[in-house]
Amino acid sequence: MSETTVIPIRDDRAKSAWIDEKGYFELYERSVKDPEGFWAEHGKRIDWIKPYTKVKDVSFDKKDLHIKWFHDGTLNVAANCIDRHLAKRRDQVAIIWEGDDPNEQKNITYGELHEQVCRFANVLKAQGVQKGDRVTIYMPMIPEAAYAMLACARIGAVHSVVFGGFSPDALAGRIEDCDSTVLVTADEGLRGGRKVPLKANADEALKKCPKVTSVVVVKRTGGAVGWQDGRDIWYHEAASKVSADCPPAEMNAEDPLFILYTSGSTGKPKGVLHSGGGYLVYTSMTHQYVFDYHDGDIYWCTADVGWVTGHSYIVYGPLANGATTLMFEGVPNYPDGSRFWQVCDKHKVNIFYTAPTAIRALMRDGEGPVKKTKRDSLRLLGSVGEPINPEAWLWYYRVVGDEKSPIVDTWWQTETGGILISPLPGATPLKPGSATRPFFGVKPELVDNDGKKLEGATEGNLCIADSWPGQMRTVYGDHQRFFDTYFATFPGKYFTGDGARRDEDGYYWITGRVDDVINVSGHRMGTAEVESALVAHAKVAEAAVVGYPHDIKGQGIYAYVTLTAGEEPTEALRKELVQWVRKEIGPIASPDLIQWAPGLPKTRSGKIMRRILRKIAANEYEALGDTSTLADPGVVDDLIENRMNRP
Ligand code: WTA
Repeated sequence: MSETTVIPIRDDRAKSAWIDEKGYFELYERSVKDPEGFWAEHGKRIDWIKPYTKVKDVSFDKKDLHIKWFHDGTLNVAANCIDRHLAKRRDQVAIIWEGDDPNEQKNITYGELHEQVCRFANVLKAQGVQKGDRVTIYMPMIPEAAYAMLACARIGAVHSVVFGGFSPDALAGRIEDCDSTVLVTADEGLRGGRKVPLKANADEALKKCPKVTSVVVVKRTGGAVGWQDGRDIWYHEAASKVSADCPPAEMNAEDPLFILYTSGSTGKPKGVLHSGGGYLVYTSMTHQYVFDYHDGDIYWCTADVGWVTGHSYIVYGPLANGATTLMFEGVPNYPDGSRFWQVCDKHKVNIFYTAPTAIRALMRDGEGPVKKTKRDSLRLLGSVGEPINPEAWLWYYRVVGDEKSPIVDTWWQTETGGILISPLPGATPLKPGSATRPFFGVKPELVDNDGKKLEGATEGNLCIADSWPGQMRTVYGDHQRFFDTYFATFPGKYFTGDGARRDEDGYYWITGRVDDVINVSGHRMGTAEVESALVAHAKVAEAAVVGYPHDIKGQGIYAYVTLTAGEEPTEALRKELVQWVRKEIGPIASPDLIQWAPGLPKTRSGKIMRRILRKIAANEYEALGDTSTLADPGVVDDLIENRMNRP
């Protein structure tokens, strides 16, 4: 092995794991040599109503872009996540819900999950929801969020979950884009002891969405809420009036399952569309092998269901496997910095999956809060959402895992549906900071900027050469944008937007986004979105936003703002602009640093030279590279002189 730190596979782990090292290479080989045969076999891991006879029909070509898997089969995703387990697991806990308040908890068995999802489905039906309709879900981390998702799947409706931290405007845009007429929300959410006014936000959003005719409101806190008779209904009242049985709808494998909005380098967030069959095969399979899930394990993914990680690895993957999945309402530092590990001890968590940003934040508080807890049930740790720096990796491994639990650094995206590059705990020696090797059926390729395929140890743009069942199918309502975003840059390949390095051992090291997407605490933000929020403010003439290295968040948001003539750059205005962006998009988009820019560096044709802005934001202003194409080189000196990021 080439790198200095290599953590070998544990013998005990290799023995009990689903896949060992030899097994990995054999199966991988087969999966890429004969994808049809491989997936024909593994597609059977879920239950089909009408079994598929066709496995794969894919073209990444401009003229005929389409992605289909198992496309003559029919199934119901919710029945796969619930009903098929009932004979064996009716009394097994499906969801452990841990409240924000450590004294609140609920265990939901598969039997109870069945009843709850059926009731929710019937409530949606009573609101007129039919197969193919889009239902927007704007919820806190409570079991009803999962019930609502599964209820949609049960009746063939398409859910669009909007993260509860998004603003009314962001919610409105997403409701409008997918034309949904039904919204599921809660009175308020609870995070770190603070209330999140979800219903009030929804009311605000709906002023812009006259087509929404029903709002189903789950009572979480009992706080006072506004009410519009005829439109708003309490979930608990509606649920008591409907039957506890709802037959699952028979859906084609390629019928849409959900839309999830995600930020790209340009324009508005895109509605990433996933269909049911391939997605469920892929998420359940990766959940089993990457986390080495065995019957009886307690599995906890700390993500929010508002992100893809919550969709694939809190709800669909684990439940399709009949797992016990833990859902946490709170935050890592409430009531105190030991919370994650207290929850691990309380519920005897075996598999723990979180984001590097959480690890870095906890690391800052030292080992004390971790070492107060036992964590002896832990067997495997996981990481997702952004590159994990080796220092944080090693801390996670040593301090949290006591050097007993392998770490799976899982690289994937909203678009990929499930994990594409990751170690398997019984099969892969680990290197801190590397996502290591591709999952079965995944063919990563590195290409240079001209699209030339690079071989051996090298660095380049990360593409995937062929489809896998969990791949997104289109951008909702804009198939052309699907092509333009992912298949136009390097024809014939899916372009991820990430850069990566491959070492002598064939291990992948993700280096981060190569486009105008920034990754703030594992959340994707498009620089264009933050810019358009800023310029929507009356005092802002122009804005350019870039990412810069941030100790905890991975990347922070750095905004260069040119004010309209006559406006004074004051501290108060700076604060106002931060609040403004929070209101326009949500707290996750708040600029960390705002620099007043009398002018922005532009080419003579008027294009902003972001490369220069990124360098100054990173405090690397001495190596700006070629600035000869600048229309007015003078602006750069001013930007350097007044730069905000001075460690
Ligand atoms: C980044 C989250 C390095 C990457 C599942 C990707 C990662 C984007 C990793 C997708 C990882 C995710 N190592 N980078 N293990 N996981 N990323 O759509 O830049 O919210 O393109 O999906 O996060 O973010 P998304």
